[in-house]
Amino acid sequence: MRKPIIAGNWKMNNTANEGVALINALKPLVAYADCDVAVCVPAIDIPAAAEALKGSNIALGAQNVHFAEKGAFTGEISANMLKEYGVKYVIIGHSERRQYFGETDETVNKRTLAALNAGLIPIVCIGESLEERETGKTEAVLDKQITEGMKGIDDISKIVIAYEPVWAIGTGKTATSEQANETIGYIRKKLAEVFCPNCAAKVRIQYGGSMNAGNCKDLMAMEEIDGGLIGGASLKPNDFAAIVNYNK
Ligand code: PGA
Repeated sequence: MRKPIIAGNWKMNNTANEGVALINALKPLVAYADCDVAVCVPAIDIPAAAEALKGSNIALGAQNVHFAEKGAFTGEISANMLKEYGVKYVIIGHSERRQYFGETDETVNKRTLAALNAGLIPIVCIGESLEERETGKTEAVLDKQITEGMKGIDDISKIVIAYEPVWAIGTGKTATSEQANETIGYIRKKLAEVFCPNCAAKVRIQYGGSMNAGNCKDLMAMEEIDGGLIGGASLKPNDFAAIVNYNK
């Protein structure tokens, strides 16, 4: 059985103080969750968030990590820097990073391997654009993101994958539950082929893209969907809690 994981991706929202207020509002609302819960916060919020999350069932996540242990990489943050604050998860290769910051499958791969090496759990984001879906390229895009972005991972079940169709992110347009389930099923099939069937059966694959309190039950009822990566709705404690408590 795969334990579902609901993770908030705050993106570039919430100062440290605002983040602490959000965490404090969230804690009692999700205290009895049956799934794994995490918030992926801006790097500068991490120390305050780590303190505020102490003793709660909400894990701390980051939104990026550099692949080098240390060195001349101005503006970057290493896995060990995250680890020191008790960060457990790190989002890698989010489509916004691919689109605006030149992230490629190659850099996604390097970051993922470095995160695993340091004992962090990468949440690796993959997904197709609207044009790619409409021109029938979805599977080819996912194949490349898997074979190149996840190359060299010895146990694929140690990562979390977020399937996020780019056209559904922040647009209010969700993939239908059936679409999401079918594509995630395809991803799992591909992982079985590239890695091993056993690990593919174990890897948790989230859906991301305008998941909210209204549509989470349908999405989470799908066999292949093991959680959600939540942007907009993770900024509102009641909305995020409703998603975390989808089965209550
Ligand atoms: P959204 O973002 O929920 O606002 O669509 C999801 C994401 O980008 O991870």
